[in-house]
Amino acid sequence: MSNPARTVTTGLASALSAPSPGTGTTGSTGPSSRRTDGPARVVVDLDLPGATISRHLYGHFAEHLGRCIYGGFFVGEDSEIPNTRGIRHDVVDALRALRIPNLRWPGGCFADEYHWKDGIGPREQRPRMVNSHWGDVVEDNSFGTHEFMDLVELLGTEAYVNGNVGSGTVAEMSEWIEYLTRADDSPMASLRRQNGREEPWKVPYFGIGNEAWGCGGNMRAEDYAALARQYSTYVRDHAGNEVTRIAAGASDDDYGWTEALMKAIGTLKGRETKPKPFQAISLHHYTMSGPWQDKGSATEFTEDEWYLTLARAARTEELVARHSTVMDHYDPHKQVGLVLDEWGTWWNVEPGTNPGFLYQQNTVRDALVASLHFDGFHRHADRLVMANIAQTVNVLQAMVLTDPDSGALVLTPTYHVFEMNAGHQDAAALDAHVLLPEEPREIEGRTLPSISASASTTGESALISLSNLDASEGRALVLDLRGREVAGHSARVLTGACSAAHNTPEQPDAVAPVELTTVREHERGLEVELPPHSFATVQLQLG
Ligand code: AHR
Repeated sequence: MSNPARTVTTGLASALSAPSPGTGTTGSTGPSSRRTDGPARVVVDLDLPGATISRHLYGHFAEHLGRCIYGGFFVGEDSEIPNTRGIRHDVVDALRALRIPNLRWPGGCFADEYHWKDGIGPREQRPRMVNSHWGDVVEDNSFGTHEFMDLVELLGTEAYVNGNVGSGTVAEMSEWIEYLTRADDSPMASLRRQNGREEPWKVPYFGIGNEAWGCGGNMRAEDYAALARQYSTYVRDHAGNEVTRIAAGASDDDYGWTEALMKAIGTLKGRETKPKPFQAISLHHYTMSGPWQDKGSATEFTEDEWYLTLARAARTEELVARHSTVMDHYDPHKQVGLVLDEWGTWWNVEPGTNPGFLYQQNTVRDALVASLHFDGFHRHADRLVMANIAQTVNVLQAMVLTDPDSGALVLTPTYHVFEMNAGHQDAAALDAHVLLPEEPREIEGRTLPSISASASTTGESALISLSNLDASEGRALVLDLRGREVAGHSARVLTGACSAAHNTPEQPDAVAPVELTTVREHERGLEVELPPHSFATVQLQLG
């Protein structure tokens, strides 16, 4: 949600508040292009690897919201839908193919009213509660800590547990991490064993509340910063489990919030310091084409709304760059991570669905919003250590949608971008310079080139991601590949019959990747033809 009571910015933070056009790849504040008199080109220096693109930039988020957990991940053991201990097989199988690196849970706004002890022990004895943020529905706590950690294991991913600062206590948070990760016969480890789990789990990421400026307690930055110091202190490292504590960060361009949190850590001059009491700061930013009250339709939009949406998606990179600049001031060696743990499109809900459940369709436009985000993430991999799309199943910009009646599962266009980009996880970023014969579009004071690109290498191979943001025109471009021999290549493309194309149970592959056959050898490398409104990946074997 956007922050209604914004932090008062001073000094450094306020200097960053003006918009700026993209400025190039290094230190970039957005996708950019340079003018060329020749054909469109993407220049990639294959022999100059940069920062490692953490696999955690491809992270996920599952909240107790609408049909994300209940009906999405979890249907219960008695369901006709095939499941393991209540967790859907089809959803797990689809997500395993994405190699999702981490899953954030239980919220979001829900995290700050969740009391974890209500979600352990025999299910029939678990107390019920009201999920006041999301539909005002009754939550029966049948999906709790054990079910979440079971899901984490089935997915082969890592846990990012988000604690409760808004309505919880320090003791409650402290006991949760003890329950999850302690090996001996401590009170909480013993309680875990009584509930059927002998071994401690690994919990590498722990959130210290969520959106403390809003649904997480309506706090002022300095007040929350003091609580973040206090709560983080009691999220202990037990039994060799090393936790990265993530303080609840800013909304959008609230640079003052980030500055208050950095001040709470203090200036980090040396490289040897493990930042205390928290090691990372979050940021939330959503993309919509209208104002908060009328965010726009997921499937019905004009060409102007297409470009406006993509320009706004590209702004995320500016926000990441500027929050990073604030952090650089206090932490020049980048020891505190920036975690964009909520991003993605937020549209008006699908007509006829519960407004509190945030269920929306997902089109080619969403796919390109995702690819633009990833291009920006790759350029800021030195500070941005994690990002989590909101949310994985049936909520906002989801990977998979499940039909509430038939149970049928559909993979979204956004899912396919995650799958096609999976090769960037833990690879080294490569600069990818876009040169175009035309000037970029100007939208809301920022530039939007019609091509966006990013690249990475593992040493033996390289992966190049290309987005044609033009709603109606295809584009031929030259991949100008420098510094290494290219021994082989293959390419795939994702598009649909129109920019609003999307998948349904009746047409599950209306938007699905296929081989890109329009790739030819060229004296500079390769020549590629991209269809209108498309995303492509080119895989290179390096000699
Ligand atoms: O993702 C939906 C909601 O958006 C989250 O609960 C909250 O943190 C944000 O406002």
